[in-house]
Amino acid sequence: MVLFSPTSRSLVGLAVTLLAVGLFSWYALRQVEGLSDLQTRIIDRNRRDSLQLLRIQNNLQNLGFSMRDMTTRTAGYPVAAWKAEFERTRFDLDDAFRIEHELGPTSRSDQQQQFLEDSVSQFWAAAERAFQLSGEGREEQAQALVRDILQTRHASIAGTVARFLVMNNEAEQKAAAEVRAIYSNVERNIYYFLLAAVVVICGTSVSLILQNRRVFRSLDQLSHQRQVLARKLITMQEDMFRSIARELHDEFGQVLTAVGALLARAQKPETSTEKLAKSLRETQQIVQEALDGVRSLSVRLHPNVLDDYGLEGAVEWYVRHISEQTGLNIECVKEGDFAGVVPPETAIHVYRILQESINNVVRHSDSKRAWVRLRRNARKLELEIEDRGVGLPEDPRTAEGLGLVGMRERAELIRGSLTFSRPAEGGTLVRLEAPLTA
Ligand SMILES: Nc1ncnc2c1ncn2[C@@H]1O[C@H](COP(=O)(O)OP(=O)(O)O)[C@@H](O)[C@H]1O
Ligand SMILES: [Mg+2]
Repeated sequence: MVLFSPTSRSLVGLAVTLLAVGLFSWYALRQVEGLSDLQTRIIDRNRRDSLQLLRIQNNLQNLGFSMRDMTTRTAGYPVAAWKAEFERTRFDLDDAFRIEHELGPTSRSDQQQQFLEDSVSQFWAAAERAFQLSGEGREEQAQALVRDILQTRHASIAGTVARFLVMNNEAEQKAAAEVRAIYSNVERNIYYFLLAAVVVICGTSVSLILQNRRVFRSLDQLSHQRQVLARKLITMQEDMFRSIARELHDEFGQVLTAVGALLARAQKPETSTEKLAKSLRETQQIVQEALDGVRSLSVRLHPNVLDDYGLEGAVEWYVRHISEQTGLNIECVKEGDFAGVVPPETAIHVYRILQESINNVVRHSDSKRAWVRLRRNARKLELEIEDRGVGLPEDPRTAEGLGLVGMRERAELIRGSLTFSRPAEGGTLVRLEAPLTA
Protein backbone atom coordinates (compact mmCIF):
# COMPACT_ATOMS: atom_id res chain seq x y z
CA MET A 1 0.00 0.00 0.00
CA VAL A 2 2.75 2.42 1.02
CA LEU A 3 5.03 1.25 -1.77
CA PHE A 4 2.42 2.03 -4.41
CA SER A 5 1.02 5.19 -2.91
CA PRO A 6 0.26 7.87 -5.52
CA THR A 7 3.32 9.89 -4.46
CA SER A 8 5.83 7.08 -4.90
CA ARG A 9 4.21 6.11 -8.19
CA SER A 10 4.60 9.69 -9.43
CA LEU A 11 8.21 9.71 -8.22
CA VAL A 12 8.92 6.50 -10.12
CA GLY A 13 7.33 8.07 -13.22
CA LEU A 14 9.48 11.17 -12.83
CA ALA A 15 12.63 9.09 -12.35
CA VAL A 16 11.87 7.02 -15.45
CA THR A 17 11.23 10.18 -17.50
CA LEU A 18 14.45 11.82 -16.28
CA LEU A 19 16.41 8.65 -17.01
CA ALA A 20 14.94 8.48 -20.51
CA VAL A 21 15.78 12.14 -21.15
CA GLY A 22 19.32 11.55 -19.84
CA LEU A 23 19.82 8.48 -21.99
CA PHE A 24 18.47 10.18 -25.07
CA SER A 25 20.64 13.28 -24.53
CA TRP A 26 23.69 11.05 -24.19
CA TYR A 27 22.75 9.20 -27.37
CA ALA A 28 22.16 12.45 -29.28
CA LEU A 29 25.50 13.87 -28.08
CA ARG A 30 27.30 10.72 -29.19
CA GLN A 31 25.70 11.01 -32.64
CA VAL A 32 26.65 14.69 -32.94
CA GLU A 33 30.22 13.83 -31.86
CA GLY A 34 30.31 11.18 -34.59
CA LEU A 35 29.08 13.75 -37.07
CA SER A 36 31.69 16.35 -36.20
CA ASP A 37 34.37 13.66 -36.25
CA LEU A 38 33.31 12.61 -39.74
CA GLN A 39 33.25 16.24 -40.79
CA THR A 40 36.72 17.20 -39.49
CA ARG A 41 38.53 13.88 -39.70
CA ILE A 42 37.42 12.77 -43.13
CA ILE A 43 35.67 15.39 -45.18
CA ASP A 44 37.72 18.51 -44.32
CA ARG A 45 41.00 16.66 -44.39
CA ASN A 46 40.12 15.08 -47.73
CA ARG A 47 39.39 18.46 -49.20
CA ARG A 48 42.67 19.94 -48.05
CA ASP A 49 44.47 16.87 -49.35
CA SER A 50 42.74 17.17 -52.71
CA LEU A 51 43.83 20.80 -52.95
CA GLN A 52 47.45 19.71 -52.55
CA LEU A 53 46.93 16.96 -55.16
CA LEU A 54 45.61 19.58 -57.59
CA ARG A 55 48.65 21.76 -56.88
CA ILE A 56 50.84 18.74 -57.67
CA GLN A 57 48.86 18.05 -60.83
CA ASN A 58 49.36 21.63 -61.94
CA ASN A 59 53.12 21.43 -61.42
CA LEU A 60 53.23 18.08 -63.20
CA GLN A 61 51.46 19.62 -66.14
CA ASN A 62 54.06 22.40 -66.34
CA LEU A 63 56.83 19.80 -66.24
CA GLY A 64 55.03 17.89 -68.99
CA PHE A 65 55.00 20.94 -71.23
CA SER A 66 58.70 21.58 -70.55
CA MET A 67 59.61 17.96 -71.36
CA ARG A 68 57.67 18.16 -74.62
CA ASP A 69 59.71 21.28 -75.55
CA MET A 70 62.99 19.59 -74.50
CA THR A 71 62.40 16.71 -76.86
CA THR A 72 61.35 18.81 -79.84
CA ARG A 73 64.40 19.72 -81.80
CA THR A 74 62.75 22.81 -83.25
CA ALA A 75 63.04 24.51 -79.87
CA GLY A 76 66.77 24.89 -80.44
CA TYR A 77 67.77 24.95 -76.78
CA PRO A 78 69.84 22.37 -74.97
CA VAL A 79 68.06 20.24 -72.35
CA ALA A 80 70.08 21.97 -69.61
CA ALA A 81 68.29 25.22 -70.43
CA TRP A 82 65.27 23.93 -68.45
CA LYS A 83 67.30 23.18 -65.36
CA ALA A 84 66.40 26.38 -63.51
CA GLU A 85 62.71 26.00 -64.28
CA PHE A 86 62.80 22.33 -63.13
CA GLU A 87 64.41 23.35 -59.87
CA ARG A 88 61.76 26.00 -59.21
CA THR A 89 59.03 23.55 -59.92
CA ARG A 90 60.74 20.90 -57.78
CA PHE A 91 60.80 23.30 -54.88
CA ASP A 92 57.05 23.85 -55.06
CA LEU A 93 56.36 20.16 -55.74
CA ASP A 94 58.41 19.04 -52.74
CA ASP A 95 56.41 21.37 -50.51
CA ALA A 96 53.13 20.12 -51.96
CA PHE A 97 54.17 16.44 -51.56
CA ARG A 98 55.22 17.05 -47.95
CA ILE A 99 51.87 18.61 -47.02
CA GLU A 100 49.97 16.01 -49.01
CA HIS A 101 51.82 13.24 -47.21
CA GLU A 102 50.76 14.67 -43.85
CA LEU A 103 47.13 14.99 -44.92
CA GLY A 104 46.95 11.71 -46.82
CA PRO A 105 43.83 9.83 -45.74
CA THR A 106 44.28 6.76 -43.58
CA SER A 107 42.43 4.69 -46.17
CA ARG A 108 45.40 5.04 -48.51
CA SER A 109 47.77 2.06 -48.38
CA ASP A 110 51.46 2.41 -47.51
CA GLN A 111 52.29 0.61 -50.73
CA GLN A 112 50.56 3.23 -52.84
CA GLN A 113 52.29 6.02 -50.93
CA GLN A 114 55.66 4.34 -51.24
CA PHE A 115 55.17 3.80 -54.97
CA LEU A 116 54.48 7.50 -55.47
CA GLU A 117 57.51 8.56 -53.44
CA ASP A 118 59.79 6.12 -55.31
CA SER A 119 58.48 7.31 -58.67
CA VAL A 120 59.09 10.94 -57.70
CA SER A 121 62.68 10.38 -56.53
CA GLN A 122 63.42 8.28 -59.64
CA PHE A 123 62.01 11.08 -61.75
CA TRP A 124 64.31 13.67 -60.17
CA ALA A 125 67.32 11.34 -60.40
CA ALA A 126 66.64 10.84 -64.10
CA ALA A 127 66.25 14.62 -64.57
CA GLU A 128 69.64 15.24 -62.89
CA ARG A 129 71.21 12.73 -65.26
CA ALA A 130 69.62 14.36 -68.30
CA PHE A 131 70.84 17.83 -67.28
CA GLN A 132 74.30 16.41 -66.64
CA LEU A 133 74.44 14.73 -70.08
CA SER A 134 73.25 17.94 -71.70
CA GLY A 135 75.89 19.87 -69.78
CA GLU A 136 78.54 17.52 -71.18
CA GLY A 137 77.21 18.25 -74.68
CA ARG A 138 75.65 14.84 -75.14
CA GLU A 139 72.41 16.36 -76.23
CA GLU A 140 71.16 13.32 -78.15
CA GLN A 141 71.50 11.06 -75.12
CA ALA A 142 69.98 13.67 -72.83
CA GLN A 143 66.89 13.94 -75.04
CA ALA A 144 66.60 10.18 -75.26
CA LEU A 145 66.67 9.97 -71.47
CA VAL A 146 63.93 12.59 -71.21
CA ARG A 147 61.79 10.74 -73.75
CA ASP A 148 62.31 7.20 -72.47
CA ILE A 149 62.67 7.56 -68.74
CA LEU A 150 61.50 11.02 -67.58
CA GLN A 151 58.26 11.08 -69.54
CA THR A 152 57.36 7.54 -68.46
CA ARG A 153 57.98 8.36 -64.81
CA HIS A 154 56.05 11.58 -65.22
CA ALA A 155 53.07 9.73 -66.67
CA SER A 156 53.11 7.16 -63.86
CA ILE A 157 53.25 9.94 -61.18
CA ALA A 158 50.42 11.83 -62.86
CA GLY A 159 48.39 8.63 -63.01
CA THR A 160 48.90 7.91 -59.31
CA VAL A 161 48.00 11.48 -58.34
CA ALA A 162 44.85 11.29 -60.45
CA ARG A 163 43.97 7.99 -58.77
CA PHE A 164 44.49 9.58 -55.34
CA LEU A 165 42.13 12.38 -56.31
CA VAL A 166 39.49 9.89 -57.35
CA MET A 167 39.95 7.97 -54.10
CA ASN A 168 39.56 11.17 -52.09
CA ASN A 169 36.41 11.97 -53.94
CA GLU A 170 34.99 8.52 -53.28
CA ALA A 171 35.87 8.71 -49.59
CA GLU A 172 34.21 12.10 -49.40
CA GLN A 173 31.06 10.77 -50.99
CA LYS A 174 31.02 7.85 -48.61
CA ALA A 175 31.43 10.13 -45.60
CA ALA A 176 28.67 12.40 -46.89
CA ALA A 177 26.38 9.36 -47.19
CA GLU A 178 27.27 8.40 -43.60
CA VAL A 179 26.47 11.92 -42.42
CA ARG A 180 23.11 11.74 -44.17
CA ALA A 181 22.44 8.35 -42.56
CA ILE A 182 23.28 9.70 -39.10
CA TYR A 183 21.03 12.70 -39.66
CA SER A 184 18.07 10.61 -40.69
CA ASN A 185 18.73 8.14 -37.88
CA VAL A 186 18.80 10.92 -35.27
CA GLU A 187 15.71 12.49 -36.79
CA ARG A 188 13.81 9.20 -36.64
CA ASN A 189 14.90 8.59 -33.06
CA ILE A 190 13.82 12.08 -32.04
CA TYR A 191 10.35 11.27 -33.37
CA TYR A 192 10.34 7.96 -31.47
CA PHE A 193 11.49 9.70 -28.31
CA LEU A 194 8.83 12.39 -28.62
CA LEU A 195 6.19 9.74 -29.19
CA ALA A 196 7.36 7.75 -26.14
CA ALA A 197 7.47 10.93 -24.04
CA VAL A 198 3.92 11.83 -25.07
CA VAL A 199 2.75 8.29 -24.21
CA VAL A 200 4.49 8.36 -20.80
CA ILE A 201 3.16 11.84 -19.99
CA CYS A 202 -0.37 10.85 -21.03
CA GLY A 203 -0.12 7.61 -19.03
CA THR A 204 1.15 9.39 -15.92
CA SER A 205 -1.52 12.08 -16.18
CA VAL A 206 -4.33 9.56 -16.64
CA SER A 207 -3.06 7.51 -13.70
CA LEU A 208 -2.81 10.66 -11.55
CA ILE A 209 -6.34 11.67 -12.48
CA LEU A 210 -7.65 8.19 -11.67
CA GLN A 211 -5.77 8.18 -8.37
CA ASN A 212 -7.15 11.58 -7.47
CA ARG A 213 -10.64 10.40 -8.23
CA ARG A 214 -10.13 7.35 -6.05
CA VAL A 215 -8.73 9.44 -3.20
CA PHE A 216 -11.66 11.85 -3.38
CA ARG A 217 -14.13 9.00 -3.47
CA SER A 218 -12.61 7.36 -0.38
CA LEU A 219 -12.50 10.76 1.34
CA ASP A 220 -16.19 11.08 0.60
CA GLN A 221 -16.83 7.61 2.00
CA LEU A 222 -14.77 8.35 5.10
CA SER A 223 -16.58 11.58 5.77
CA HIS A 224 -19.92 9.77 5.35
CA GLN A 225 -18.79 7.02 7.74
CA ARG A 226 -17.64 9.62 10.24
CA GLN A 227 -21.03 11.31 10.07
CA VAL A 228 -22.87 8.02 10.58
CA LEU A 229 -20.61 7.12 13.50
CA ALA A 230 -21.03 10.50 15.15
CA ARG A 231 -24.82 10.16 14.89
CA LYS A 232 -24.76 6.64 16.31
CA LEU A 233 -22.51 7.79 19.13
CA ILE A 234 -24.85 10.63 20.07
CA THR A 235 -27.87 8.31 19.92
CA MET A 236 -26.09 5.74 22.03
CA GLN A 237 -25.14 8.34 24.61
CA GLU A 238 -28.73 9.54 24.79
CA ASP A 239 -29.99 5.92 25.11
CA MET A 240 -27.50 5.32 27.89
CA PHE A 241 -28.58 8.46 29.78
CA ARG A 242 -32.21 7.55 29.28
CA SER A 243 -31.69 4.02 30.59
CA ILE A 244 -29.77 5.29 33.62
CA ALA A 245 -32.49 7.88 34.26
CA ARG A 246 -35.20 5.24 33.97
CA GLU A 247 -33.40 2.84 36.23
CA LEU A 248 -32.74 5.53 38.85
CA HIS A 249 -36.35 6.62 38.67
CA ASP A 250 -37.76 3.11 38.82
CA GLU A 251 -35.45 1.76 41.50
CA PHE A 252 -35.26 4.75 43.81
CA GLY A 253 -38.82 5.83 43.14
CA GLN A 254 -40.09 2.41 44.17
CA VAL A 255 -37.85 2.26 47.26
CA LEU A 256 -38.69 5.75 48.43
CA THR A 257 -42.40 5.18 47.84
CA ALA A 258 -42.22 1.95 49.85
CA VAL A 259 -40.25 3.58 52.67
CA GLY A 260 -42.70 6.53 52.68
CA ALA A 261 -45.71 4.18 52.91
CA LEU A 262 -44.02 2.26 55.73
CA LEU A 263 -43.32 5.40 57.70
CA ALA A 264 -46.88 6.61 57.18
CA ARG A 265 -48.25 3.27 58.39
CA ALA A 266 -45.90 3.20 61.40
CA GLN A 267 -47.21 6.61 62.48
CA LYS A 268 -50.76 5.34 62.64
CA PRO A 269 -51.59 4.19 66.21
CA GLU A 270 -54.01 1.50 64.95
CA THR A 271 -51.28 -0.36 62.95
CA SER A 272 -50.60 -3.68 64.56
CA THR A 273 -47.09 -4.92 65.18
CA GLU A 274 -47.75 -7.81 62.86
CA LYS A 275 -48.70 -5.57 59.94
CA LEU A 276 -45.74 -3.34 60.63
CA ALA A 277 -43.41 -6.34 60.56
CA LYS A 278 -44.89 -7.49 57.22
CA SER A 279 -44.44 -4.03 55.72
CA LEU A 280 -40.86 -3.96 56.99
CA ARG A 281 -40.14 -7.31 55.29
CA GLU A 282 -41.63 -6.09 52.01
CA THR A 283 -39.63 -2.88 52.16
CA GLN A 284 -36.44 -4.76 52.92
CA GLN A 285 -37.02 -6.92 49.83
CA ILE A 286 -37.57 -3.87 47.65
CA VAL A 287 -34.46 -2.20 49.07
CA GLN A 288 -32.47 -5.37 48.34
CA GLU A 289 -33.68 -5.48 44.73
CA ALA A 290 -32.87 -1.80 44.34
CA LEU A 291 -29.40 -2.46 45.70
CA ASP A 292 -28.89 -5.25 43.13
CA GLY A 293 -30.11 -2.92 40.38
CA VAL A 294 -27.71 -0.17 41.41
CA ARG A 295 -24.84 -2.67 41.56
CA SER A 296 -25.54 -3.99 38.08
CA LEU A 297 -25.82 -0.43 36.74
CA SER A 298 -22.55 0.47 38.40
CA VAL A 299 -20.87 -2.60 36.93
CA ARG A 300 -22.14 -1.71 33.49
CA LEU A 301 -20.77 1.81 33.81
CA HIS A 302 -17.41 0.57 35.07
CA PRO A 303 -16.50 -2.93 36.19
CA ASN A 304 -14.92 -2.38 39.62
CA VAL A 305 -14.17 -6.06 39.63
CA LEU A 306 -11.44 -5.30 37.09
CA ASP A 307 -9.68 -2.99 39.57
CA ASP A 308 -10.17 -5.44 42.42
CA TYR A 309 -9.37 -8.81 40.80
CA GLY A 310 -7.57 -8.00 37.57
CA LEU A 311 -8.45 -9.12 34.04
CA GLU A 312 -8.53 -12.84 34.82
CA GLY A 313 -10.93 -12.41 37.76
CA ALA A 314 -13.10 -9.95 35.87
CA VAL A 315 -13.46 -12.30 32.90
CA GLU A 316 -14.43 -15.15 35.22
CA TRP A 317 -16.91 -12.99 37.09
CA TYR A 318 -18.45 -11.60 33.90
CA VAL A 319 -18.85 -15.01 32.28
CA ARG A 320 -20.58 -16.37 35.38
CA HIS A 321 -22.76 -13.27 35.75
CA ILE A 322 -23.91 -13.17 32.10
CA SER A 323 -24.57 -16.92 32.09
CA GLU A 324 -26.87 -16.54 35.07
CA GLN A 325 -28.52 -13.51 33.57
CA THR A 326 -29.13 -14.84 30.06
CA GLY A 327 -28.97 -18.60 30.35
CA LEU A 328 -26.22 -18.79 27.73
CA ASN A 329 -23.97 -21.78 28.37
CA ILE A 330 -20.42 -20.43 28.33
CA GLU A 331 -17.31 -22.57 28.63
CA CYS A 332 -14.41 -20.52 29.93
CA VAL A 333 -10.78 -21.64 29.48
CA LYS A 334 -7.75 -19.80 30.83
CA GLU A 335 -4.11 -20.61 30.13
CA GLY A 336 -1.04 -18.95 31.58
CA ASP A 337 -0.32 -16.68 34.47
CA PHE A 338 -1.93 -13.25 34.31
CA ALA A 339 -0.97 -11.93 37.73
CA GLY A 340 0.27 -8.36 37.33
CA VAL A 341 1.11 -8.64 33.60
CA VAL A 342 -1.86 -6.87 32.05
CA PRO A 343 -1.72 -3.10 32.55
CA PRO A 344 -5.11 -1.64 33.61
CA GLU A 345 -5.29 0.58 30.52
CA THR A 346 -5.10 -2.58 28.40
CA ALA A 347 -7.37 -4.67 30.64
CA ILE A 348 -10.41 -2.37 30.32
CA HIS A 349 -10.33 -2.61 26.49
CA VAL A 350 -9.93 -6.40 26.53
CA TYR A 351 -12.83 -6.59 28.97
CA ARG A 352 -15.05 -4.34 26.82
CA ILE A 353 -14.26 -6.41 23.73
CA LEU A 354 -15.29 -9.56 25.61
CA GLN A 355 -18.44 -7.82 26.83
CA GLU A 356 -19.48 -6.64 23.35
CA SER A 357 -18.69 -10.03 21.77
CA ILE A 358 -20.81 -11.89 24.33
CA ASN A 359 -23.57 -9.29 23.94
CA ASN A 360 -23.51 -9.96 20.20
CA VAL A 361 -23.66 -13.71 20.76
CA VAL A 362 -26.71 -13.20 22.95
CA ARG A 363 -28.40 -10.70 20.66
CA HIS A 364 -27.53 -11.89 17.15
CA SER A 365 -26.12 -15.42 17.01
CA ASP A 366 -29.07 -17.56 18.04
CA SER A 367 -26.56 -19.88 19.72
CA LYS A 368 -27.14 -21.51 23.09
CA ARG A 369 -23.44 -22.17 23.68
CA ALA A 370 -20.31 -20.09 23.62
CA TRP A 371 -16.60 -20.49 24.40
CA VAL A 372 -14.34 -17.93 25.94
CA ARG A 373 -10.58 -18.58 25.85
CA LEU A 374 -8.03 -16.36 27.51
CA ARG A 375 -4.38 -17.26 26.91
CA ARG A 376 -1.12 -15.70 27.76
CA ASN A 377 2.16 -16.59 26.12
CA ALA A 378 5.51 -14.84 26.64
CA ARG A 379 4.72 -11.34 25.44
CA LYS A 380 1.22 -11.69 24.05
CA LEU A 381 -2.34 -11.98 25.27
CA GLU A 382 -4.99 -13.85 23.29
CA LEU A 383 -8.73 -13.71 23.74
CA GLU A 384 -11.19 -15.79 21.72
CA ILE A 385 -14.98 -15.74 21.81
CA GLU A 386 -16.65 -18.40 19.73
CA ASP A 387 -20.28 -19.38 19.12
CA ARG A 388 -22.13 -21.89 16.93
CA GLY A 389 -24.78 -19.51 15.74
CA VAL A 390 -25.78 -18.02 12.41
CA GLY A 391 -22.43 -16.34 11.84
CA LEU A 392 -21.63 -12.81 10.73
CA PRO A 393 -23.41 -11.52 7.61
CA GLU A 394 -21.47 -12.19 4.36
CA ASP A 395 -21.63 -8.57 3.34
CA PRO A 396 -19.41 -6.63 5.78
CA ARG A 397 -21.44 -3.47 5.13
CA THR A 398 -24.48 -4.94 6.87
CA ALA A 399 -22.34 -5.65 9.95
CA GLU A 400 -21.22 -2.08 10.59
CA GLY A 401 -22.82 -1.50 13.96
CA LEU A 402 -21.15 0.64 16.54
CA GLY A 403 -20.24 -2.47 18.54
CA LEU A 404 -17.84 -3.92 15.96
CA VAL A 405 -16.39 -0.50 15.17
CA GLY A 406 -15.79 0.13 18.87
CA MET A 407 -14.10 -3.27 19.24
CA ARG A 408 -11.76 -2.51 16.36
CA GLU A 409 -10.94 0.91 17.78
CA ARG A 410 -10.18 -0.57 21.18
CA ALA A 411 -7.97 -3.28 19.63
CA GLU A 412 -6.05 -0.60 17.77
CA LEU A 413 -5.70 1.48 20.94
CA ILE A 414 -3.82 -1.38 22.62
CA ARG A 415 -1.85 -2.06 19.38
CA GLY A 416 -3.50 -5.44 19.08
CA SER A 417 -5.16 -7.16 16.16
CA LEU A 418 -8.77 -8.22 15.99
CA THR A 419 -10.14 -10.76 13.51
CA PHE A 420 -13.59 -12.12 12.81
CA SER A 421 -13.91 -15.49 11.18
CA ARG A 422 -16.32 -18.32 10.57
CA PRO A 423 -15.10 -21.66 12.03
CA ALA A 424 -15.56 -24.79 9.95
CA GLU A 425 -18.30 -25.94 12.36
CA GLY A 426 -20.23 -22.68 11.77
CA GLY A 427 -20.91 -19.63 13.92
CA THR A 428 -18.51 -16.81 14.68
CA LEU A 429 -15.00 -16.64 16.10
CA VAL A 430 -13.72 -13.32 17.41
CA ARG A 431 -10.02 -13.32 18.10
CA LEU A 432 -7.96 -10.63 19.77
CA GLU A 433 -4.18 -10.61 20.03
CA ALA A 434 -2.54 -7.90 22.07
CA PRO A 435 1.06 -7.25 23.10
CA LEU A 436 1.71 -7.30 26.82
CA THR A 437 4.11 -4.38 27.06
CA ALA A 438 2.84 -1.34 28.90
N1 LIG B 1 -21.82 -13.38 17.09
C1 LIG B 1 -22.55 -12.93 16.05
N2 LIG B 1 -23.33 -13.79 15.34
C2 LIG B 1 -24.06 -13.34 14.29
N3 LIG B 1 -24.10 -12.07 13.86
C3 LIG B 1 -23.35 -11.15 14.53
C4 LIG B 1 -22.54 -11.53 15.64
N4 LIG B 1 -21.90 -10.43 16.10
C5 LIG B 1 -22.31 -9.42 15.30
N5 LIG B 1 -23.18 -9.83 14.37
C6 LIG B 1 -23.81 -9.05 13.29
O1 LIG B 1 -23.05 -7.85 13.14
C7 LIG B 1 -23.91 -6.71 13.27
C8 LIG B 1 -23.15 -5.60 13.91
O2 LIG B 1 -22.84 -5.87 15.25
P1 LIG B 1 -22.52 -4.68 16.22
O3 LIG B 1 -21.53 -3.82 15.56
O4 LIG B 1 -22.15 -5.21 17.54
O5 LIG B 1 -23.86 -3.85 16.26
P2 LIG B 1 -25.18 -4.16 17.11
O6 LIG B 1 -24.85 -5.26 18.07
O7 LIG B 1 -25.47 -2.89 17.78
O8 LIG B 1 -26.19 -4.55 16.09
C9 LIG B 1 -25.05 -7.20 14.03
O9 LIG B 1 -26.20 -6.46 13.70
C10 LIG B 1 -25.20 -8.64 13.59
O10 LIG B 1 -25.94 -8.71 12.38
MG1 LIG C 1 -23.30 -5.34 19.35
